[in-house]
Amino acid sequence: MEIFERMEKHEHEQLVFWSEPKFGYRGIIAIHDTTLGPALGGTRFWNYDSDAEAILDVTRLARGMSYKAAITGLNLGGGKSVIIGDNRTRYREMIFRAHGRAVESLGGRYITAEDVGTSPTDMEYVLMETEHVAGILGRSGDPSPVTAYGTYVGIKAAAEHRWGDGSLEGRHVAVQGLGHVGYHLCRFLSEEGARLTVTDIAPDKVQMVVDDFGATAVEPDAIYAVDAEIFAPCALGAVVNDDTLKVFKFQIIAGAANNQLARTRHGEECHKRGILYAPDYVINAAGLINVYGERHGWDRDRSMKKAGEINWTLLQIFARAAEEDVPTALAADRIAEDRIAKVRHLQRSWV
Ligand SMILES: NC(=O)c1ccc[n+]([C@@H]2O[C@H](COP(=O)([O-])OP(=O)(O)OC[C@H]3O[C@@H](n4cnc5c(N)ncnc54)[C@H](O)[C@@H]3O)[C@@H](O)[C@H]2O)c1
Repeated sequence: MEIFERMEKHEHEQLVFWSEPKFGYRGIIAIHDTTLGPALGGTRFWNYDSDAEAILDVTRLARGMSYKAAITGLNLGGGKSVIIGDNRTRYREMIFRAHGRAVESLGGRYITAEDVGTSPTDMEYVLMETEHVAGILGRSGDPSPVTAYGTYVGIKAAAEHRWGDGSLEGRHVAVQGLGHVGYHLCRFLSEEGARLTVTDIAPDKVQMVVDDFGATAVEPDAIYAVDAEIFAPCALGAVVNDDTLKVFKFQIIAGAANNQLARTRHGEECHKRGILYAPDYVINAAGLINVYGERHGWDRDRSMKKAGEINWTLLQIFARAAEEDVPTALAADRIAEDRIAKVRHLQRSWV
């Protein structure tokens, strides 16, 4: 597909290509929509097979960020950037400073942050060239406890919609992935008296959750068939697919992992089978809230409070999905689109 055709089809405002061959830097910044505010989204460092593949990825991801900010009630637009290359390189300063210059050229229309293949240290290099970068060491800190809290209140919303009661006491939750988010999520769940069955490919992480929260451990592949009411994926994408759906006994899927549905049709399949799916980009949005808070000088309490609103947002999504008889992911998209459209037509009045 031609570039302008792609931009028009996916309603992108701007695509920026920046090249600094002497440093081996090739970057693309995509700005999807700035109706709500400056476009915010991380920098992905990846060895794409072609420029076309990089453009496809960056535009898809930027669009996703517009929806995530909109549904979370943040005044941010959607953007993303990619750096094309081997993300294991040790020669990072000049690459990320070049990226910082590309970001700076947009004068604040785009704010970047860490993403796949980049680290907080890389963002320090970006900061040498521009202030339009978030997730800096020593500022808002590790977003994972806030993300875990947003996920926890999201699970409660799913329970409330499904069973008419948001309490998780005595509910059985299968948690996949016990990393930064998964561990804290288990803490919140166990504090409320949920029963935990957990897995991770790292045995030490499993042992810690077994010791700290009395969880039962299973092998990684066994998690999909656990006879639990709730599945909380906090590791990989595409875990809701043709194979796993065959063995699921879960009534709710609600976890922090990105891109949980292998394809859109798997969301439709959950809807048909009465499995309540909490759209991933909504339930894990507290990571973005944390970054937003950093830009606005919020303390941790204020970010946690905003993360708590994910509960209400999901209840709204579930209600709309039920009302319109559509998958929850589609209901979420519609609510996000509504907010952008309404803000676009805001009329300001002056006293
Ligand atoms: N950290 C955040 O604030 C944040 C925000 C939004 C979304 N997310 C998403 O949430 C998920 C978890 O993030 P994180 O920061 O905890 O990452 P992490 O890397 O700290 O943890 C992921 C865990 O999953 C485990 N894992 C990998 N493959 C597995 C498998 N096959 N079976 C079981 N466990 C496996 C890893 O060993 C690791 O412990 C990711 O998908 C991430 O994109 C995180």
